[in-house]
This record gives sequence, C-alpha cells and structure tokens, in this order.
Amino acid sequence: MNHLFLHCRAGFEKECAAEITDLAGEVGVYGYSKTKDNSAYVVFITHEPNGAMQIQQELRFRKLIFTRQWFVTQAPITDLPVTDRVTPLLAAAQQFPIARELLLETVDTNDGKELSGLSKKFTAPFSTALRKNQLISVKSPWRLHLVFITGTEAYLGVSLYSNSSPWPMGIARLRLPKEAPSRATLKLEEAWHHFVPAADWDTRLASGMCAVDLGAAPGGWTWQLVQRGMYVEAVDNGPMDKNLLETGQVLHILTDGFMYEPKKKVDWLVCDIVDKPARVSSMIIQWFGKGYCREAVFNLKLPMKQRYLEVKKCEERILKELTKLGLDVDIQFKQLYHDREEVTGHLRVFK
Ligand SMILES: C[S@@+](CC[C@H](N)C(=O)[O-])C[C@H]1O[C@@H](n2cnc3c(N)ncnc32)[C@H](O)[C@@H]1O
Repeated sequence: MNHLFLHCRAGFEKECAAEITDLAGEVGVYGYSKTKDNSAYVVFITHEPNGAMQIQQELRFRKLIFTRQWFVTQAPITDLPVTDRVTPLLAAAQQFPIARELLLETVDTNDGKELSGLSKKFTAPFSTALRKNQLISVKSPWRLHLVFITGTEAYLGVSLYSNSSPWPMGIARLRLPKEAPSRATLKLEEAWHHFVPAADWDTRLASGMCAVDLGAAPGGWTWQLVQRGMYVEAVDNGPMDKNLLETGQVLHILTDGFMYEPKKKVDWLVCDIVDKPARVSSMIIQWFGKGYCREAVFNLKLPMKQRYLEVKKCEERILKELTKLGLDVDIQFKQLYHDREEVTGHLRVFK
C-alpha cells in the first residue's frame, strides 16, 4: 500500500503536500505528492511499497495541520462501469484489511458536492455487498473510505479509527445556534471538538471556570464560554451582544487585547483577533510565560505566501520560549472547517 489520500481545504493542497512530505520523512518514509489546485485533496505516493501503511500506523494524525482526514489507498480505480460499480470496487476492497464500517465521502469542492447524490445512493448496495463477502467486521480497528472523484473514478482505502478524524472528510457538522451573536461561534465549538477529548469536557470546560476572550465582539466565542457556565472577561473596543451582557457572566472590557493583563489567573484564554501571526504568538508566549492561563485557543492568520512555513515558525518559537521557561506544554494547530485563510492553535500547560 503506497498511496495516501489526504482531504484538505480547497486552495491549500500545496501546504497539505509540503506537510505530509515533511512528516512522512520523520517516520522514515519518503515519497512525492500529486496535487491539483483547488481539488481539496492530495495523494501522497511513497517510494516504499508499504510506506502509506507505515505512515498511517506511525505518524500521529494530530500532528497534521492542513489534512482534515486521511486514508491508505492505491491508484484510483478508473473506468467504473456506470451499470455496475459494485463488482470492481468489491474486488479492490479485498486487498485491504477487513473494516468495521464503510464511509462514503466526497471532496470538499462544488464538483465534489455534485457527487454526494451518487455517494448516498451507493452506500446501501456497496455495504450489503461488503457484508455478504465478509469484508465487514464489528471488531475491526479499520474504517473503509470511498471517495468518488467522478462518476467513473474513485479512491478506496482504509484508516485506523485510533489515528484519523472521527468525522467523514474530517468535517465536524455543527449547527449554528439561533441565539449565538455571530457565525464565528462555530469556530470555537469546532476547536474544542478537535482539541479537547469528549471525556474531558466536564473537567476542562467546566461550569464556574474563568476565561478571557480577546477580540470578543460581538460575542460568538464568549457565547460558547457562557454556555459552558464560565465567567468571561470579553476584551474588545467594539460592542458586545446585549443579551450576553445580561447573563451576568460577562464583563466587557473596552481596551486593546494585546495590552490586557488579567488580575488573577484564568482557566481559558481565547483570542480571535486578526493580526500578524508573530504578534499573536508573542502574546501567547507572554500569557503562558506569566502563568495567566492554563489552556488557550487562538487564531493565526496566514500570510499570502509560505503559509505552512509561517505556522511551523510560530509553533517552534512558542515551544522554544515556553520550554526555556521550564514549562511542559502541548501545542497543536489545525486548519478547521470554519477557518479560511487561518489556522487555529491550541496550547495547554501541564506544569
Ligand atoms: C473576527 S472578530 C471576533 C469575532 C468574535 N470572536 C465572535 O465570535 O463574535 C475580531 C474582533 O477583534 C477585535 N480586535 C481587533 N484588534 C483588537 C485588539 N488589538 N484588541 C482587542 N480587540 C481587537 C475587533 O474589534 C473584532 O471585534
């Protein structure tokens, strides 16, 4: 198995390809990427015959910033007969480990969405055929992915549940709450789903905790914190949503977020200020260096060029500075579904 299929945001194929090339090298696997601009996916082909399987098993999925979802595959299956796509796909499925379930995905482009009807219709007949041929087992650690690129071409492959995104195409489907003051609210919710395991929500996103929200107006992120029962210092010169202020859980502070220092330590810092990544990184270093918070979610706006390099530079700098101060931290970045020209960072201190 020497192909890896990687879902990404359309327009970020080069970043996704650069990243997988780097990280595959870290686990001793080398190869090259096939990309097409704005296709929303990358195929990485390894020189070693079993390189893709090795990457899937040895490279932690959480390290990937620009990949939303991935699976081990082979060259695309082409010339699928429109009257019987099941037979050739079933033959291809025999070459992969038995899976627990079948996941039909599309690529995240308009062309991809047009194939979602075909994907939906195909799920039941293909699942039935897989079951009849004993290619599905509830005990399997693998999930089978099928992505139609066109009506006659598809990628089929497997990912490990324990080392991939739990969501089809890596997209957590979230509903915009009617009462939230802005659409941006979904970004913080999505970040929590990515960075905080469900089992930890009751302790790490707990009622009674304190948070600071920098660049808070009109209040979408503050709304999420309030929903978790937290007390929030919302820092922004812009106006905050009135209903939020009436909850009694929000203190609106009209000042510059980069100058703000909390009077006492808080549990969470969240920051949605659009500014230079280096400036946001310095602020994060200062907050953790001074012990102002335990955990943070923040945005890094990407430059026009060298977007992957810029994120890596910020990540390395934050890690280096905080390690120098003797702090044990975990840092992660992800380009979330709700991120456009930016990535979301998460930082947590253990000591
Ligand atoms: C993308 S919006 C935030 C949206 C907010 N997270 C929400 O969910 O509604 C960015 C906000 O950052 C604020 N902002 C920009 N520079 C700032 C600064 N230096 N200090 C505080 N707020 C700032 C802007 O006024 C704006 O309201």
